[in-house]
Parts: sequence; structure tokens; C-alpha cells
Amino acid sequence: MESYYVTTPIYYVNDEPHLGHMYTTIAADVLARYQRMSSRDVFFLTGVDEHGQKVEQAAEARGIAPIELADQVVARYKSLWPELGISNDDFIRTSSDRHKAGVQAMWRRLENAGTIYKDFYEDWYCVPCETYWTETQLKDAECWDSKHCPDCKREVEKIQEESYFFRLSAFQEQLLEHIHANPDFIAPLSRRNEVISFVESGLRDLSVSRTTFSWGVPVPGDEKHVIYVWIDALTNYLSALGFPDQEQPEHWPADVHLIGKDILRFHAIYWPCMLMAAGLPLPKRIYAHGWWTVEGEKMSKSKGNALRPADLLAEYHADVLRYFLLREVPFGQDGDFSFSALKQRYNSELANDVGNLLNRSLSMLTKYNGGVLADVGEESDSDRALIADVEAMQRDVAELMEKQAFHLVLDRINVVVRHGNRYVEDNAPWALAKAGDTARLNSVLYHLVETLRLVAVQLSPFMPEKMNQMLSQIYSEDVSATSFTFIEHGGWGLLKAGHQCAKAQPVFPRMDA
Ligand code: MSP
Repeated sequence: MESYYVTTPIYYVNDEPHLGHMYTTIAADVLARYQRMSSRDVFFLTGVDEHGQKVEQAAEARGIAPIELADQVVARYKSLWPELGISNDDFIRTSSDRHKAGVQAMWRRLENAGTIYKDFYEDWYCVPCETYWTETQLKDAECWDSKHCPDCKREVEKIQEESYFFRLSAFQEQLLEHIHANPDFIAPLSRRNEVISFVESGLRDLSVSRTTFSWGVPVPGDEKHVIYVWIDALTNYLSALGFPDQEQPEHWPADVHLIGKDILRFHAIYWPCMLMAAGLPLPKRIYAHGWWTVEGEKMSKSKGNALRPADLLAEYHADVLRYFLLREVPFGQDGDFSFSALKQRYNSELANDVGNLLNRSLSMLTKYNGGVLADVGEESDSDRALIADVEAMQRDVAELMEKQAFHLVLDRINVVVRHGNRYVEDNAPWALAKAGDTARLNSVLYHLVETLRLVAVQLSPFMPEKMNQMLSQIYSEDVSATSFTFIEHGGWGLLKAGHQCAKAQPVFPRMDA
């Protein structure tokens, strides 16, 4: 079976899960579910990033050990993900022994390749952002006089310490070649261009160890240094697969690393260069999505407006949130989360379009034929057009999924849903019933149910529970599309004459505005 490996970033444990974490993880889950249904051998990884000065400081402020803080936040993530329907195959913690072994093995490889050296480090450091700034960068950003961070505007500290360095600069040309030879390596295009110009402007060697804190993985053979956070964090994608015990781990290279735009440089520059130095294959694709604001404002701890998944789940079904997040904003662009937009989308696309098509189709089937599908008569042009649209949708969705174009996928499925509703109007089953044209009536009802079934199958990666409800009515038994494959369940005509459907039950009741 063809492998498919999808990852989320590993989330810092100095903050509670919020909308941003939920977003990437849902997107990764949709890909994983879709690829499982496409009969691929999927490995879907998420986890947490536990080490570093920020976590050490946050734990200290609470008077607990870093590992205790990490345990608390890990418990939150582990209870949250199932509630959101997240079907990850593994959960990696950077404090685990398997991860530490992976990081130390990665270090040794980099060292053996002659790409690690010891020197002194002097720079400006932003603790909250864990980012180093050169004098030039601060000057360019007009942050030099007041010594503040160009990103978060907080004060930067001057740092001088003994440190190991990774020869990032040695890989500049090789990385550029790789990016040019692999147009799909970094997406979307704007981010790819951003990376290219950054690399072309020159790569500096990277400081990769610290002696100023201890909450991390020790440098093998020089334990007063801990491995600085990005070598540690990025290696999770391999350590979770059993590296270094598995020399060429199964599932590697990753098919796609999903990340937010703020961590693009680490994934699209540091990580590939580390892998080249270590002699390991590079991930096939890195996709950087945009950032959410909430009701027009940036989410921040100080404003206290960060949307917490638990609060959202108390109000909305997980599937509705999943749908909204991937439908509202083109993946890759920034977007705004607002409750009015959520309700509007829900009412127009889910309640009015999908919900309505399900309700009216099954209700008519029950009313006119006791819920039983009958033989299809001669196909009309409108039948053929509907089937063709369904089949084209399946092909389009497959293509768009490979590009992580979730909003276009949903758009395309909705085209078929609207087509279905138009088909009802055009064929007016109530008039056929009145005229006693049972053959044509049965045919129309059959086309509607089969369309609904295939729409639900395609929507299932996005809204697994809701689509199970929908499919259970169509199949009139409890089914879980999670175990469906497109090969087995994706073809037109699976339902046969004599098949009994259940009565319509509302899946998407209207929301009050
Ligand atoms: N630990 C690092 C990642 C290491 S990966 C080897 C990290 N963690 S994080 O918890 O700070 O952020 C994780 C992800 O959340 C990032 O991809 C970031 O883009 C995303 N988001 C944080 N706020 C966000 C929004 N407001 N909107 C969308 N995503 C956002 O970075």
C-alpha cells in the first residue's frame, strides 16, 4: 500500500490549546482521513514541543517542574483531540526517551558530517519569541535604538555564550537547487517565493546549543550544553517513526508537513538543510497556512481573546467547526473567525443546501415508496448531467486534496449539492407522483439518494460524525464512513433496487442567527 505521512507542528506546552492549534490539526486530520479512504497506508502525527527556556520559565513562574507543566498541557491535548474527531496515529512528546534518542542520533550525524562546530555566540535574543536578531536586523527594522523585538515589540536581551553551530551556510546552493527542482516543495507559492529570496540573501550558520538553561536534550559528549530548540523540535518528525533504530524509517519522507506561516523558515530552510547534512531524504511538501484573527482582532494572551476549543465545542458540534475553519478561508491565507460568519455559512451551506437535500429526498422516498429504492428506468439528460457532475466532483476533489485546497474541495462538493437541489425542482417528483408516473418518479428518487450518498462520502473526512449520521439514514444501518474506501463505496450505482432507506432525521438543524 502506498504510504502517506502527514504531520502537524508539535505545540508548545507553555500555552493551552487554542484556535490556531485546532486549525492545523483539523486540516491534517482531513488529509489523513481522505488518504485512508483512498486506500493509502496513512501515518498522521501530532504532538508537543516541551523543551526550551520559555517552558522552563513558565513552569518556574508556577512553582512546578517543567515536566509537570508539560504533563498538564499534554493531558489537555490528549482529551481535546478525540472531541474534535482527530484521528492521529501517534502523539510525540519531546521529553520521551524515543525522541531524545532520535535527537541525539541526529546530532551525531550532523557532527560526523562535519557540520557542527563550537564557537562563541553574541547576539540579541527575544525570550518570548525564542528568536535571535542580529544588529543589522534590528537596525533594518528600526528596533535598534530601543532594543526591542521586531516581531513582538518586547525588549531583546544581549547574549554571549559558548555555543555549537550548525553550518547552515554550507547548504545554501544545495537548498536552492532543491527548491527550484521541486516546484511543489513549498506551498503556497507566495511562501515559496519568500523562502527563495530569504535563502538567496544569504544563510548564516545556526547556533544550536545553549548553556543558559537545562530543560532540553543534552549534547552527546558535552552535557553542559543542551541542544537548542529547533534541532530538537524538528527531529520529532523522524523520532516518532522510530529513528534512529530504523535507519530509513517506514513512512519517511513525509508527504506533507502542515505548519503556520510563522514557522516556515524553520521548516523550509533549517529542516531540509539538516536532513541534507544527515544524508536523509527531504519531506515532499511543506504547506504554510495563514493566521486567524478573532472578530477582527489578533488573538493574544494579554487581550484574553484567544478562542479555546473547549468553549467552542460547548456551543458547536465539532464537525461544524471543522467545516467552517476549512471552508471560510482559503488555506494559506489569513482569515477572520466570527460567530456571525460561522452561523451564516452553517445556515446557508449545511442547513439549507446539504440538510435540505437530504430531508426532502428521503422524505419523498418514504412518502412515495415506503423508503425503498426501485429500478432506474431509462436515463434522462438531467440524470446523466447529475451523474457526470458527481463523478467530475470526485476527480476534482482528489486533485484539490493533493494541493491542500480545502476551501475549493468544499466549494466543489457544494456545487453538486446545489445541482441536486436544482434537479429536484426540475424533475418535480410531486408532479410525477400526481401524474402517476411511478417509473420516472422512482428513477428521480434513486438519483437523488445516490447523489447524497456520494456527497456524504466525500464530505466524510471533513465532518466524520455528521456524515455517519447521514449515511446511516441512507444505508438504514449504523455505518461509519471512517472505514469506507472510495474504491468500495465511491462508485455510482452501489445501492440496488429494493434497498430500504431510513426516515429522514435532521442532521443540520437551522441555527438562530
Ligand atoms: N513548537 C513550535 C513548532 C515546532 S514544529 C517542529 C511552535 N509551537 S506553537 O504552539 O507556538 O504553534 C504551533 C502552531 O500554531 C504554529 O503553526 C502556528 O502557526 C499556529 N498558530 C498559532 N496562532 C495561530 C493563529 N492565530 N492562527 C492560525 N495558526 C496559529 O511554534
